[in-house]
Amino acid sequence: MLELKNINVSFRSERQDKVFGHTRQQVLFDVSFKVEDGKCLGILGESGSGKSTMGRVLCGLLKPDSGVAAIDGVSIYGSRAGRRTLQNKLSVVFQDYTSSANPRFRVRDIIGEGLTVRQRRENSKPDRAAETVSLLETVGLDSSYADRFPHELSGGQLQRVCIARAVACNPEVILFDEAISSLDAHTQVQVMDLLKELKEKFGLTYVFITHDLTSITYLCDDVLFLYQGHVSEYLPVEQISETKDEYARKLLDSIVVFDIGKDAV
Ligand SMILES: Nc1ncnc2c1ncn2[C@@H]1O[C@H](COP(=O)(O)OP(=O)(O)O)[C@@H](O)[C@H]1O
Ligand SMILES: [Mg+2]
Repeated sequence: MLELKNINVSFRSERQDKVFGHTRQQVLFDVSFKVEDGKCLGILGESGSGKSTMGRVLCGLLKPDSGVAAIDGVSIYGSRAGRRTLQNKLSVVFQDYTSSANPRFRVRDIIGEGLTVRQRRENSKPDRAAETVSLLETVGLDSSYADRFPHELSGGQLQRVCIARAVACNPEVILFDEAISSLDAHTQVQVMDLLKELKEKFGLTYVFITHDLTSITYLCDDVLFLYQGHVSEYLPVEQISETKDEYARKLLDSIVVFDIGKDAV
């Protein structure tokens, strides 16, 4: 289980105060949530609301000012053991798949990065060629893709490769930060279907960060709305239409309008 408890994060702001020196800008305010094993939590918020900052806290890259981040009851920032537990259990897929894949690497080497992580961790020697083919198959690509470079793939294909790399580490949890946001709508649905399938197949737990409500209802069990660094709503996806939160309401209403528009055509 993954848990954030009363997380606060601030950054040193660029503005200099004559008397007090640098001031701090708070980005996350008292953020708490739990993700049970095998579940998917959607984090929804507009640009700048603190989603990626929260993601960095979750994946061990940013120590919060206060609060506890824990995986399976072990505090991530409490000890070196905590950090290690996390590294062993969590993989990340970022939005910017073009820069998160080395352009000089072939697909086999990109997936190989994930296999290396697993190898180091489990002290095992996976059959890299066979594993690569099987991971490619898992994400819906045939083995001929192994020799390609990132620029020889479509956005959706490259994101599949990044997903294969994340799965190659054999994680329990995968964090997706706007991982499908820059794909076209059709490809988004395909990749979400793939994510659903992988979640079932490997019993994975997901944290799915997005600014798009539709993908949340498609994939997630719970949804958390982040508004200017505050959790403004946090509830099971089935109850989303009952929300009283103003920001959540606004997003929901915009989708309803969109749907009616589509039906009218
Ligand atoms: N390393 C940093 N230093 C200073 N400010 C930062 C840093 N990272 C993020 N911020 C600020 O924190 C706020 C939230 O950013 P972010 O978490 O990236 O939002 P989101 O992912 O929801 O778009 C923004 O105002 C951003 O400028
Ligand atoms: Mg972000």
